[in-house]
Amino acid sequence: MKISLTGIKPTGNIHIGNYFGAIKPALALTSKYFGVYFVADLHALNSNPSPLELQQLIYEVAASWIAFGLDTEKAIFFRQSDIHEIPELTTILSAVTPKGLMNRAHAYKAMVDKNIETGRDPDDGVNMGLFTYPILMAADILLYDSDFVPVGPDQRQHVEIARDIAENINRIYGKTLKLPEGNFAKDLKDIPGIDGRKMSKSYGNTLPIFCTEKELRKQVMRIVTDSTPPEDPKNPDSDNLFQIFKLFGSSERVEEVRQLYLKGGLAYGTLKQELFETMLVTFKPARERFNYLMENKPEIDLLLAQGAEKARELGRPVLARVRKAVGLDR
Ligand code: ADP
Ligand code: TRP
Repeated sequence: MKISLTGIKPTGNIHIGNYFGAIKPALALTSKYFGVYFVADLHALNSNPSPLELQQLIYEVAASWIAFGLDTEKAIFFRQSDIHEIPELTTILSAVTPKGLMNRAHAYKAMVDKNIETGRDPDDGVNMGLFTYPILMAADILLYDSDFVPVGPDQRQHVEIARDIAENINRIYGKTLKLPEGNFAKDLKDIPGIDGRKMSKSYGNTLPIFCTEKELRKQVMRIVTDSTPPEDPKNPDSDNLFQIFKLFGSSERVEEVRQLYLKGGLAYGTLKQELFETMLVTFKPARERFNYLMENKPEIDLLLAQGAEKARELGRPVLARVRKAVGLDR
């Protein structure tokens, strides 16, 4: 059975961008593929979170996956840092990764560009974890001979880098690693945040799924719209609120609202209220499971420990193959 693998960093509360961009498409693949899902806690270290905060977020991300329906009997679900084969593979992969490939990685490049723009040293605030982030991610993917990697559009480049690195190993040492494919939901763009930029934990512009009702309402009401008065026609395709609403409304309701935009007569505030209520209903079952798990953390610990065993079993032979190919073992 082919393998579909994806991970989420515990760097903030899970939001609808994570859900629609990664979690939902990944879980939808579990009927066709063998699912391998994890909490990418090593990747989260790059922002030097406080240990307490990191602990809390690891649980939150783990509880989110399960709350959204990940079946830990059928799929493998674990925490990245429990898999000691990953740092070992990362070191081996580093030896065949050109520095130039890392220089071109978006996240690093964006930081350098920003530093230059603001007159700082180009590498100001860049640690080696951030710089080599794509190699660790390549190890995550390649360790299990993954076939598909369902991720949002912003992670596309990282999957391509993982392929490049696997190709380098295969070119130098003969066919050793399987080349993974990204799996991008067709015409899915990055989901916009409440300020219209890509929704991201790092921009503080998210609609979190497991926050309190009060917090969610506040964020929904803060969605930025233009100042067109209710009676005037509006363009649904350029409106941020509509892009978000589209993810939730039934197809009939979305079409009705689209017509209201075009005709005029829709107040943004009314649609925000509807979005808020629809979000509450949509995520109610997940929220209940999430809250239960967060009150029962030992259950999460047990599932993660069992998952780590299975993941290591799956990854060990691949690492052994790589060690042999590069000449570390006979
Ligand atoms: P964030 O940008 O909030 O830190 P992560 O980098 O942890 O999110 O992303 C976890 C997963 O969610 C990735 O597969 C990523 O592509 C997806 N994702 C994150 N933000 C969005 C978004 N705005 N639209 C679509 N997918 C997203
Ligand atoms: N870099 C991904 C993100 O920021 C998280 C991640 C780590 C990941 N390792 C992965 C995603 C392997 C897919 C496959 O969202």
